[in-house]
Amino acid sequence: MSDALEQAARVLHGATSIVAVTGAGISVESNIPAFRGPKGLWTKYPPEEYATIEGFLEDLAKVWRLWYELGDLLADSAPNPAHYALAQLEQAGKLDAIITQNVDNLHQAAGNQHVIEYHGNGKRMVCLECGAQQPIPEGPDRPLPPRCVCGGLIKPDVVMFGELIPQDALTESEHLAIQCDVMLVVGTSAEVYPAAQVPHTAKYAGAYIIEVNPEHTAFTSTITDAFLQGPAGHMLPALLAQAGVTR
Ligand code: APR
Repeated sequence: MSDALEQAARVLHGATSIVAVTGAGISVESNIPAFRGPKGLWTKYPPEEYATIEGFLEDLAKVWRLWYELGDLLADSAPNPAHYALAQLEQAGKLDAIITQNVDNLHQAAGNQHVIEYHGNGKRMVCLECGAQQPIPEGPDRPLPPRCVCGGLIKPDVVMFGELIPQDALTESEHLAIQCDVMLVVGTSAEVYPAAQVPHTAKYAGAYIIEVNPEHTAFTSTITDAFLQGPAGHMLPALLAQAGVTR
């Protein structure tokens, strides 16, 4: 048992308000590739072409081909023990919310009720004209690109680079970061703002930061109080067991 795990478990056990911030790393063990790193999505699909609003408007069909492919991947993916551990924490009445950068819907699939979709949801699409939201179509004969009945352009309901974070997500995340006494930061490279600002806000407000990641990040040697180095699918269940969290 590592000292960090024992200390983190003790703090978690005594916490009155816990908030989790998650990134793509928590879904790696659900066979969804992360964005950065040697096999990251952005190595195969340059983000400037596929993940910016300019790139999207330049070639709708190309970007939609990627999101249809990602949608099929998401359709076949399932929550892993890390997602279920956060659901268990919520069911035990110990987790106030998850602020997720992920668009894979796996926290909801694992049973978490209070999930803030900081970067939207990759299972939904939204009309840029009328704002109508609908599920992204599955199956072989999907329109490329999809069109809204109002004639407007439709995009995946995810926040692309160059777009603003939904105001309600920003506001609620800021409030939760300020009031929590423990923040669990799981599977994020801490590279993308404003999401990466949330743990800094929590730290500044006095929260204890528990970070779960196989690699060190910009958080590890600056704001992290307990660094649980390893895959989230192993570390989170171990943390809850050590903290005596049962649903
Ligand atoms: N368990 C925990 N963490 C893991 C695991 C694992 N099994 N495997 C990898 N990781 C870590 C990596 O070490 C890395 O630090 O997950 C992190 C993934 O980093 P990114 O791919 O950069 O994902 P994320 O931090 O969520 O990216 C933020 O960038 O491109 C945008 O909108 C996109 O939401 C995304 C945002």
